[in-house]
Amino acid sequence: MNDWKTLPKTEIHLHIEGAAPPEFIRTLAKEKNVDLSGVFAADGSYRWADFAEFLCTYEAATSVLQSPEDYRRLTEAVLAESAANGVVYTELFLAADFCGGGDVAAWKEYLAAMIEGADNARAAHGIETRFISTCVRHFGPEEAVKIARLTAETAGPMLTGFGMGGEERHLSAADFAPAFAIAAEAGLGLTSHAGEICGAGSVRDTLDHLKVTRIGHGVRAIEDPALVDRLADENILLEVCPGSNIALSVFSDWPEHSIERLRRAGVPVCVSTDDPPYFHTTMTEEYAHLADTFAWGRADFNAINTAAMNAAFCDEDTRQRMLAKFR
Ligand code: ADE
Ligand code: ZN
Repeated sequence: MNDWKTLPKTEIHLHIEGAAPPEFIRTLAKEKNVDLSGVFAADGSYRWADFAEFLCTYEAATSVLQSPEDYRRLTEAVLAESAANGVVYTELFLAADFCGGGDVAAWKEYLAAMIEGADNARAAHGIETRFISTCVRHFGPEEAVKIARLTAETAGPMLTGFGMGGEERHLSAADFAPAFAIAAEAGLGLTSHAGEICGAGSVRDTLDHLKVTRIGHGVRAIEDPALVDRLADENILLEVCPGSNIALSVFSDWPEHSIERLRRAGVPVCVSTDDPPYFHTTMTEEYAHLADTFAWGRADFNAINTAAMNAAFCDEDTRQRMLAKFR
């Protein structure tokens, strides 16, 4: 396990609120006198039983994050943990709906605080960060347009992408096309969750209507061989989070996971943790499981990290500097 801990890694699918350690959330809840009954299990971990309940717990826990300073502290805590697991380049998903309720002036303050946190983490641990602003699918298409406009207005060297998370069973990808068109027009990198809770059709709709270059998860594309070929042909990177998928019962266990079959079919894949404390995982544990299950070695991990950097939402200088670490 220790061996995998120090191997240089990229992680480009990590939700900042979902990466908050339970202790961090409990401490803030005490400071702010917020009642979080129902959020934690008896052992102190986050309590949820299925995807819908996971989203509820996630939003309840996030309610204690109430100021830019809370998010700066969280950014530094999350990036310290990433760096401790060997991550040298990361992309963090930020949901502006939770950072000032989608108000542009408030969002600017939250974003500045998170950039300050990322700058501090770079100075302390050498970790490089970019941010992806995400809309929340179950908050609906109008809210998504609002978040896309706000993201376009604040895009810059650190805020480089736009994406969508949330309840995949809510509406269809086409409903969110206007939001993604605004983000595309602003030159932002595009990614969206799909093929996690729903099947291959959801991935196909996302490619057709949202014009993304990456898919969050996408692992259920394996149910449709023609779609697998399309992902390979169009060089669409899947941000695969195997531990998350197993925790949420998308696959019953590691040997059943589609990541190896997708990779063998020529689909670019990389590995991330999604919401690590919710799924009781770390990047080191993901690597150890992949090594044990599929006999992946350093060359395989360097290949997936190279794929991630080739699809990363960053400037060319940073891309080349990071790619050199995986040669
Ligand atoms: N938001 C945080 N984690 C998520 C996941 N795994 N799927 C969809 N939305 C999310
Ligand atoms: Zn996710």
